[in-house]
Amino acid sequence: MRVRKITKAVFPVAGLGTRFLPATKSIPKEILTLVDRPLIQYAIDEARAAGIKEFIFVTSRGKSALEDYFDQAPELESELRRKGKTDLLEALKETNMDSGAIAYVRQNRPLGLGHAVWCARRLIGREPFAVLLPDDVIAGERPCLLQMIEAHAETGGCVVAAMEVAPEQTSSYGILDISEDMGRIVRARGLVEKPLPKDAPSTLAVIGRYILTPRVLVNLNRIRQGAGGEIQLTDALAIEAKSKAGVFGMRFQGQRFDCGSKIGFLQATVAFGLSRPDLSDEFGAFLHDLMAMQKAAQ
Ligand code: UTP
Repeated sequence: MRVRKITKAVFPVAGLGTRFLPATKSIPKEILTLVDRPLIQYAIDEARAAGIKEFIFVTSRGKSALEDYFDQAPELESELRRKGKTDLLEALKETNMDSGAIAYVRQNRPLGLGHAVWCARRLIGREPFAVLLPDDVIAGERPCLLQMIEAHAETGGCVVAAMEVAPEQTSSYGILDISEDMGRIVRARGLVEKPLPKDAPSTLAVIGRYILTPRVLVNLNRIRQGAGGEIQLTDALAIEAKSKAGVFGMRFQGQRFDCGSKIGFLQATVAFGLSRPDLSDEFGAFLHDLMAMQKAAQ
């Protein structure tokens, strides 16, 4: 099967981030930091490692810190050079984007994830593309998006990253209605946005990584507001699942942290802190002592 190479990725970052108020009153959620890197940097690194060359951000009011983050900082760089701080200079380099590689489109009202993706339609054109939600941070040996691009090459259809959740959690996710389970990859006959446990067709949930075909953009043209009054990407995928090309869920390898929620963000902070060679000993000892103190106090 011949499939087109995927070189474009959309990063919808126009949400209100209300779960992190008051912090997100003036800071975009995607700039919140795990150890010393903002969430957006983890998503960009994953996309680059999967071969993405064009980065499309769907932004909204109050996200200028995000745009500034990718600008070069000549004064800061020359100061670091003067002081011989080569490691920090290297860290700064990761934030640089080639001229023309990054584009911003505006979503002028937060009408939902489906609407945010639709806002990027003119920059995407008629080729398959990736969507990454930066608040899902995925740690693992192989970048999740790379695994998905491979699954797209295998199946030729849309691919969503999928993971098993507890039955009582289905109402927090888009859930796959599975028609064929091939192990790592499943074929979906439909998708349901945030079903109650009793209505959920499975416990296989969609998380924030997608490979979409341009037909999904056409489906989004037809969609009215769905669950929660938003234009849901899940609904556009549910239409696509009925087509010949189809929609596939891929059970990815890696650990996903929901950094859009407070508990997920705290868990990620601990996990990433402990995985850093320069911090793990001291941080691990601190956590150990803290737990011991809490136990003693009980
Ligand atoms: P969330 O459901 O996490 O919403 O969006 P949110 O507004 O970011 O955060 P809360 O729930 O108020 O705390 C998932 C992703 O979709 C983007 C968000 O920026 C996030 O990356 N999104 C959501 C948009 O770009 N536009 C929208 O209208 C809605």
